[in-house]
Amino acid sequence: MDVMTAMKGRRSVRSYSSKEVEPEKLKYVLEAARLAPTARNLQTFKIVVVTDPKILDQLVEACNGQSFVAEAPVFIALCALQDGGNMGCGIPRHVTDCSIVMTHIILEAYEQGLGTCWLGSYNQGRVKKILKVPDEAVVVAVTPLGYPAEEIPQRKRKSLEELVSYQSF
Ligand SMILES: Cc1cc2nc3c(=O)[nH]c(=O)nc-3n(C[C@H](O)[C@H](O)[C@H](O)COP(=O)(O)O)c2cc1C
Repeated sequence: MDVMTAMKGRRSVRSYSSKEVEPEKLKYVLEAARLAPTARNLQTFKIVVVTDPKILDQLVEACNGQSFVAEAPVFIALCALQDGGNMGCGIPRHVTDCSIVMTHIILEAYEQGLGTCWLGSYNQGRVKKILKVPDEAVVVAVTPLGYPAEEIPQRKRKSLEELVSYQSF
């Protein structure tokens, strides 16, 4: 699958089948994360993979009641050490790094026939407690991972004319 096909076909999946994710498919997804570029190639992130149904159930509440979190057989939490500070441009390094890593994860998941839904709505403290994330780390993004249980139409996007300008803002 080429990258553009993956970018066109990927959807945010909010309904999952209970079918297990094959370990080799999960490995491809994690390998995609490992290959992601990070500032200064530091790779100061940690991926927590959850498959224990008891922990998945606890995560529903921590993800503000998004019940599909426990439908999917896998949950991925992407954590970063907060010591990264800002890059020269003033933007926090760990947030940028983890956003790229999560993008690799969701696109490779799609290539493997798996669904994801990037979640930003979760309680930082509760997710950290459930997953035993140390104080010095932060959970930057999370997603369920599993087989989609429904076909999802493509969401509308703005036109290039609205999003792009040339030579100045
Ligand atoms: C940073 C970020 C946070 C998001 N948080 C949530 C969330 O908490 N819950 C949810 O259902 N979808 C969440 N989404 C999914 C977006 O709503 C979705 O990507 C957007 O509507 C476009 O739909 P698509 O992904 O199917 O193309 C999030 C997406 C991003 C990129």
